[in-house]
Amino acid sequence: MIVESEKEINSLKAIGRVVAQTLKLMMEQAQPGITTAELDAIGREFLEKEGAQSAPQVMYSFLAQPASAFRLSSRTVSPATRYCRQGQLINIDVSAEMGGYFADTGGSMVVAKQVSEYDKMIEATKSALVKAVQAARAGQPLNGIGKAIQDEAKRNGFGVIFDLTGHGIGHKLHEEPTQVYNYYKSKDRRMLDEGVVLAIEPFLTTGRGHIFEESDGWSLRTIDRTIAAQFEHTVIVTKDEPIILTLA
Ligand code: CO
Ligand code: CO
Repeated sequence: MIVESEKEINSLKAIGRVVAQTLKLMMEQAQPGITTAELDAIGREFLEKEGAQSAPQVMYSFLAQPASAFRLSSRTVSPATRYCRQGQLINIDVSAEMGGYFADTGGSMVVAKQVSEYDKMIEATKSALVKAVQAARAGQPLNGIGKAIQDEAKRNGFGVIFDLTGHGIGHKLHEEPTQVYNYYKSKDRRMLDEGVVLAIEPFLTTGRGHIFEESDGWSLRTIDRTIAAQFEHTVIVTKDEPIILTLA
């Protein structure tokens, strides 16, 4: 969506803050022994308490298993429950709706431990998100975002996941502009309009950057079984730095 009033900005800020607080809470609670189902319940309860909609399809969390990497689990789709284990790399992604407006945020972490291999990738992914947000300016190419992400990933010795993208958001969870690539794509000539609302979500990996969906219909894995990390903010594009909505 393109924001057209202060009222819309405030509504987006409100849901942005709620999803950011939910993510923070879930990350704090992601301790050894808790299950994904319990974490989802904590997130859902908080969203509901804040007046946000946690309807099916609105909240996802995904979990990266060491060694086998990157699995997406959704409480609405999968009956599978996984235990968080110390030293495990996980990703939590929270999106929700309130008063007709959506926001989307996410982040990766290691459960109750420092693991330098994971921490390095997590820091690089955070840094890629910062650079991507800085590149999101009205009048600039949309794909400046992808270029910034790929450059920062490369600078830190990582690759990007080509198959997962950011997206427009606002009145729906996913809307125009779709496919906010996480890499430089010379054919992408789209420009950024003032007021457009974007979910920017770099995914970095140690591997070649392709994923597949498993036959259960909900797990995503890197084809080469490498690890991956993601951070995500929802922003409103302006002539200067964007307004970051998903701040706790
Ligand atoms: Co998300
Ligand atoms: Co998203």
